[in-house]
Amino acid sequence: MNKLAMELNDVLRGTVVADLLSDFGKRFYYPMGIPAQDTEAKKHAKIYNATVGMAFANHEPIELSPVRAAMPGLTPFQSVAYAPTAGDPELRREWKAQIYRKNPDLGAALISEPVVVPGLTNGISQAADLFIDPGDSVVIPDMFWENYSLVFEDRREAPVTSFPFFAEGARASGPGAPPWGLNLAGLRETLRSTARRGKVALVVNFPNNPTGYSPTASEASALASLVEELAAGGLKILVIVDDAYFGMFYEPEVYRQSLFARLAQLHENVLAVKIDGATKEDFVWGFRLGFVTFGAKGLTEAHYEALNQKLIGAIRSSISNSSRPAQSLLLKALANPDYEQEKLRYFESLKERYQAVRRIIEKRSTGRSLTTLPFNSGYFMSFRFEGGSADALRRYLLMEKGIGTVSLEDKYLRIAYSSMELDELEPLYSEIFKAADHLAR
Ligand SMILES: Cc1ncc(COP(=O)(O)O)c(C=O)c1O
Repeated sequence: MNKLAMELNDVLRGTVVADLLSDFGKRFYYPMGIPAQDTEAKKHAKIYNATVGMAFANHEPIELSPVRAAMPGLTPFQSVAYAPTAGDPELRREWKAQIYRKNPDLGAALISEPVVVPGLTNGISQAADLFIDPGDSVVIPDMFWENYSLVFEDRREAPVTSFPFFAEGARASGPGAPPWGLNLAGLRETLRSTARRGKVALVVNFPNNPTGYSPTASEASALASLVEELAAGGLKILVIVDDAYFGMFYEPEVYRQSLFARLAQLHENVLAVKIDGATKEDFVWGFRLGFVTFGAKGLTEAHYEALNQKLIGAIRSSISNSSRPAQSLLLKALANPDYEQEKLRYFESLKERYQAVRRIIEKRSTGRSLTTLPFNSGYFMSFRFEGGSADALRRYLLMEKGIGTVSLEDKYLRIAYSSMELDELEPLYSEIFKAADHLAR
């Protein structure tokens, strides 16, 4: 093993991180290679800096004028220069400040400096590399973003263990929804039965893709309590918190913070990894900007720094660094006085669509073979098709009606109402209900 990796492992010894790192994670470190030497040179090379593989003219990175013309608001340093492996330090600082602002339950809890990755998918994949070994099992409630299977099962060879996301008979959520809520008993049981060698990994994603469900405040507390109870029993728990749709909370009873806020200081045996980013929250899907932030009770700045060094090494060895113009544009947007106001405006517009969908479903007289799964947040809602194959319903809608939806497990139909105009929702749902009636056995 590399000496630097051993030094990082020494720093982390005795913490939950050391117990949870995969073999990959244990081996990783950030070498004193070109980017690290360049960072050092930026501080101390007062005369000439001939370190990094970029081309300069007049002491600025060369930028072709057609490129400059397309990004007139950015200097060459902000548009075409490499970003540091861990991301623009100013953006990292600002994003961290945003995490505290958006999640008051964090209080003054010590968390790591967010590291920039090219989108949430890459953040999840980096976390999987660092903490999941082939043969480990990853617990994920059964309604989940399909890409998790590819990341954990196919890339990392770690089977996903699922359990029903909702429990009938749990609390109701919103008018017209069946009296279901999060299946917390199922979660507890699955974590317990899946644990191997005293550890277990869990992925949570709220607002959820595909259901559009987020826990209520009391469900969030109950979830945190059950994780704490298992941790107090000696289980080491990794919780990957996928906050892709953070902020799109439409009902008053919903917990409006990330579960990371409840987990980051919960117990010495719990390591929370927050994966978030600008993709959906800031409506910049193609920017490819995400962040990875760690939180565990008892970890010090030195521990977080050692863990970040491992993550940064993993980044250096895979994607090297993330898009510079995207980081510069996001940083400028965050500092713009219109930023919050405009976000609020688009939030209101998404909420209006959410409310319209609720009304349409409530007053429907057709499509009874479609059971509405609870939804209160995010971009989506899903039906369970009781009348046959959900994929047959999807194909019928597509081929006969020209309507695109997503089927899952041949049971569920997911509708991204976020991508519809308000006045398109009524005709869209009317066609879906008619199609379900037509196909229902
Ligand atoms: C739950 C969830 N996590 C992560 C992502 C991916 O985010 P990104 O585009 O930033 O990789 C998505 C995208 O659909 C998602 O639904």
